[in-house]
Amino acid sequence: MKVLKELFDSNKKWAEKVKKDNPAFFSQLSEQQDPDILWIGCADSRVPANEIVNVRPGNIFVHRNLANVVVHTDLNCLSVIQYAVEVLKVKHIIVCGHYGCGGIRAAMESKSHGLIDNWLRHIKDVYRFHQNQIESIEDLDARADKLCELNVMEQVANVCHTTILQNAWQAKQDITVQGWIYNINDGILKDLDICISGPDEIAHIQRLKE
Ligand code: CO
Repeated sequence: MKVLKELFDSNKKWAEKVKKDNPAFFSQLSEQQDPDILWIGCADSRVPANEIVNVRPGNIFVHRNLANVVVHTDLNCLSVIQYAVEVLKVKHIIVCGHYGCGGIRAAMESKSHGLIDNWLRHIKDVYRFHQNQIESIEDLDARADKLCELNVMEQVANVCHTTILQNAWQAKQDITVQGWIYNINDGILKDLDICISGPDEIAHIQRLKE
């Protein structure tokens, strides 16, 4: 092993430390996982889900992609949501964005970025839905921050509109969908005060009847 040997060394140290604190940790976790939370976050290396809420493996089921987008044709994200809701029976789904998101910044530009333009279009849609509100902000950084927040709200709605969530709620499964945002400048999470816990709280056009 010539490359990245230091990662294997540091992995060994980490596993030893965890075992020292709790000798049964790995044997217990290897049997089953029982997380209460599904985290949908940005792939950005500065926003590692477990680390920023300071929890060990086993507590959070995680899906990350560029700019924490939930698209209703993305089989990857939908499969994660389905597994989390139907098999793991998580109680909360958190969409967590972050200020200073490169994906959000790129979506605000007119310049082409190649293949990724197709992904960024989902964020450009969010911009278009809230164009007046966003463009009423003079400062460009503040504008980007606002789009980071609005994108989280939109993706929370997208999670709620999936048949997975609607079926779960119809079956009386207790599950909330929430929107948070993380500040990479100080490491602090902010609750965007959006917490959806049933189909009555989503737009009627998206609501599916049994
Ligand atoms: Co990002």
